[in-house]
Amino acid sequence: MNFHILTLFPDMVVDALNTGILGKAVAKGIIGLDGVDIRDFSHNRHRKVDDYTYGGGAGLLMQAQPIYEAVQSVQERLPKKARVIYMTPQGRVFTQEMASGFSREDDLILLCGHYEGIDERVLEECATDFVSIGDYVLSGGEIPAMVLVDTVSRLVPGVLHNEVSAETDSFQNGLLEYPQYSRPEEWHGRQVPQVLLSGDHAKVDEWRLAESLERTRERRPDLYKAWLKEHPPAPVKRRKRKADGEK
Ligand code: ADE
Repeated sequence: MNFHILTLFPDMVVDALNTGILGKAVAKGIIGLDGVDIRDFSHNRHRKVDDYTYGGGAGLLMQAQPIYEAVQSVQERLPKKARVIYMTPQGRVFTQEMASGFSREDDLILLCGHYEGIDERVLEECATDFVSIGDYVLSGGEIPAMVLVDTVSRLVPGVLHNEVSAETDSFQNGLLEYPQYSRPEEWHGRQVPQVLLSGDHAKVDEWRLAESLERTRERRPDLYKAWLKEHPPAPVKRRKRKADGEK
């Protein structure tokens, strides 16, 4: 899967993503990181890509033309039109479920804004998705784009050593992940829960689900409520009362 990241800082984004697990996936050719410098598409001899806002207001706006040409230059190289995701605090708040959807695409174009934003007309013409990473404002779309690329890449087959680990991640089943322990069995007087040493896989699974539920109830009551709605407890079967005289 290829990520085409349109930004004023392509080196920063690509270098930061090209490390660790993602760096290995890039080296293996499972993930492609294509940093596209929006300034390369400026027609201005100073490579300017921003200008004042019509109607007044503080700050500069990124202009439509360089962004349009940057998007087109990527689309022209692809066998089929890719989704263009504009990273913006005005978008849908990013979730694991959205990441799953994006992970099924072959190519994604991510558009990172700066200054006061982007001329609306190029968004109308090019953007297919508007994604926010949360209800707060960053100074640009680069960090949000990195968040999206990292999250989506982990779901692409072959990126993680064992695919089970993405499946058991927090949110993948709508719950937070259960607590985990490694060696030694005792540390600072704290014991690893006995059940994890028992070798009884059914018991371990049962314990982990109970811990996930408890942690989610405590830390994310919103997710817990949604999970309960999806997994209503099975109705308790009442035994029929015997009629008088019946044995
Ligand atoms: N750009 C600035 N703030 C952002 C946010 N919260 N999410 C996505 N893009 C942004």
